[in-house]
Amino acid sequence: MPEPGLLAGQGVLVVGAGSGIGRAVAERLASEGARVVGLDLDGARLGTLPLADRVVGDACVPGVVAEAVERAQAGTGRLDGVVCCAGRFDFYQPICSLPPSDLVDAFEEIYRVNVLSGLVVARVAADALRASRGSLVLTVSSSASWPEGGGVLYGSSKWAVRGLVAHLARELAPEVRVNGVAPGGTARTRLVGLRSLGQDGRVADGPERDERIAAQTLLGVAASPADHAGTYLYLVSRALSPLVTGTVVPSDGGRGERIEAGRTPGVGEERVG
Ligand SMILES: NC(=O)c1ccc[n+]([C@@H]2O[C@H](COP(=O)([O-])OP(=O)(O)OC[C@H]3O[C@@H](n4cnc5c(N)ncnc54)[C@H](O)[C@@H]3O)[C@@H](O)[C@H]2O)c1
Repeated sequence: MPEPGLLAGQGVLVVGAGSGIGRAVAERLASEGARVVGLDLDGARLGTLPLADRVVGDACVPGVVAEAVERAQAGTGRLDGVVCCAGRFDFYQPICSLPPSDLVDAFEEIYRVNVLSGLVVARVAADALRASRGSLVLTVSSSASWPEGGGVLYGSSKWAVRGLVAHLARELAPEVRVNGVAPGGTARTRLVGLRSLGQDGRVADGPERDERIAAQTLLGVAASPADHAGTYLYLVSRALSPLVTGTVVPSDGGRGERIEAGRTPGVGEERVG
């Protein structure tokens, strides 16, 4: 008989499970025996995942998240983990290139998805996570430590997510552990830009981008979504990380070390649009 997985019998919600990093996390947690419910705007992509259940909708809307939390508890009666991966990018938009009115719209759009979704999910899932002494994992970015990997809108929104990790870890303690994962540049996701700025495209994948990402890391690798999934698993699992809270784990191949050493390409060079 196969060994029971690390998360056997546990109920987990993955927000932004349809694509990219969230999708790889959902697959990995399910492979460890969790009963995974996915929430995403994109129902078609959720439909091709091996989920226990799915909710199609906006993670910034409390009623949508409440339904996802309820469904995540349905099978096991508990919610042991919540992972938030919903996000939008700004394609390195320089602030001075924007008319002030567009700046306001862009701010509201990117902070709504990147920051508000984490707050709404934390608020709506708090009681269920407290009851199970569960874990909340938010998705940060290496751009939340250095002014690279995005423009000021994206980067500052990810600094705000670092703030969510710190504050929520304090506020939801001692029952709930709250942590973040900070991926570096990641290939083969579908990260999209800001509609308010007409950034209709998504991050352009290909060998050139892989080379640029790899050149920015100590390990010389262009990460794929699956490369981050074990870090999320570590933080979700109370068996693996029972004492870890209020921290952000880099998953960037040592990109930060390269930036600190001043040996990485400069701001905006990892241009992905
Ligand atoms: N791709 C990278 O290089 C990279 C690097 C560092 C951090 N990140 C972060 O990782 C996270 C995942 O990014 P990804 O590259 O896998 O992107 P992705 O677009 O492939 O996946 C994000 C998913 O979230 C969903 N989503 C977006 N807004 C939503 C909302 N309001 N409600 C519900 N679902 C919503 C999308 O439909 C999509 O399925 C983001 O927070 C991103 O900022 C990405």
